[in-house]
Parts: sequence; structure tokens; C-alpha cells
Amino acid sequence: MGGKVNAAKKAAGMVEDCSVIGIGSGTTIEIFLEELGRRIKEEELTVYGVPSSYQSHLAALKNGVKIVDLFQYPELDICFDGADQVDENFNCIKGGGAALTREKIVATASKKVYIIVDSSKIVERLNMPVPIEVLPFACGFVEKKLAEIGKPVIRTGSGKLGPVVTDNGNFIIDCDFGEIKKPEELEREIDEIPGVVESGIFCSKLIDGVIAGYENKAEILKGKIRHQTQRGKNLSSHTFKP
Ligand code: A5P
Repeated sequence: MGGKVNAAKKAAGMVEDCSVIGIGSGTTIEIFLEELGRRIKEEELTVYGVPSSYQSHLAALKNGVKIVDLFQYPELDICFDGADQVDENFNCIKGGGAALTREKIVATASKKVYIIVDSSKIVERLNMPVPIEVLPFACGFVEKKLAEIGKPVIRTGSGKLGPVVTDNGNFIIDCDFGEIKKPEELEREIDEIPGVVESGIFCSKLIDGVIAGYENKAEILKGKIRHQTQRGKNLSSHTFKP
């Protein structure tokens, strides 16, 4: 728990006055927003944000972030988000909270992307089930196609009978692929199935840094920085230092 809080606080300290931020979802982001809210009040900052879920929308509002959208700001300054698992090259699995599609949109729309995690989530290779958002109409078909390459399970939740319905009105399939050796290839393969809206694999080319939290500190890890992007950034590669 300490690691998550330390990482979220460090991230909140990186937000600049008058910036437009992409806001991920999850419990780590909630702590990030509380800390950011404290700074907004004490330092009289103005921060604009595009949230990726109703959860983070409400938390951002409560903490004084001015909510804007991608019509107003199709390009965001910086995005902060949590993750369920991160490998040492900064590939991530996201979507434990079923917000992966909007999370991937706000991340891709941002000039920089930082993932905030408790250090226990960092592994050598991704190996947990990948959340995949699917159009309800296509769910049976997508499940069958995924069964050819993994073990898919339609996610059901609490507080409602039947499948979890995302903020976009879709279903989630969690698919176990075992150890994921080539995340980028797998992401592409999943995305090619008609009916898949988005997958929870966030490849390292999207991520600029990981803010890792430990019991008594937090560190910004700069591993494989993403290569030339659609935004024309010219970035070099660095070696991962745990
Ligand atoms: C939401 O869909 C997810 O991608 C979250 O970002 C991820 O599950 C991390 O959540 P926690 O911060 O609650 O661990």
C-alpha cells in the first residue's frame, strides 16, 4: 500500500500549472488525484484534465481538476495512469477496472505517458490474463477466435448479474495467454479480430516512464523510451535500471 501511495504522490508532484493532463483510472489514480487536489488548493494551480472513466471523472471533479474533452484538446500535455502489470521493457497490461479503451485513447493523445505502480507489479515478462473490450454483438465470435490462441473468460462483476458492461456499453473478455513473449505482436493479433474494441496490452512505445513506488520512496524509471512517434518526437533508447 505504501508503494502505491508514494508513487501516486510523486506523480502528482510532476503536474505543471495550466497543463492539460490525461487521467487514467483505478485506485492508484484516485490517490494521485487526491494529492493533485491538495496541490491545486495550496498552490492555486489550474489543471485541465480528460478522464478515462466515470470513476476518474468524478474523482477529478471532486479534487478541483477542470474537466475538458478531446474536442477541445485533441493533444494532451501528459498522461498519468496505473497498470495491473508492467514488464521490464515497460510493456503493460491494463484494464482491471475495465477502462482500457479510453485509457489507451488518452495515453495515445498525450505527448508523454507515465505509468504509476507499486513496484510489486513490475515483472520480467507479462503473464496475467489480458482484458479485452468487445462489442456485445460480437462477443461469442470473439471468444471463439480467442480460444484458438488463449483461454478467454467473459468477465462478470458484482452489483449486477451477468457480464460487466464498460463505460462504453461493451463487454470485457479476460484472456489468459500464459507468458507473453511478444506483446506488440499479440496486441496486433487481438486487434485484428472483428468485434474487438481494444486490448489491455499497452506496448512500451507508448510509455515514457514508470513511476515505481516502494515502502519508503518512489522512483521514476526510464527504460526503453518510446521511439519516434506520430507526434514527431525524436527520442533515444535508454537501458532499464531497476
Ligand atoms: C483500469 O481499467 C485499469 O487499467 C487500472 O489502471 C489498473 O487496473 C490499475 O488499477 P489500480 O491502480 O487500482 O491497481
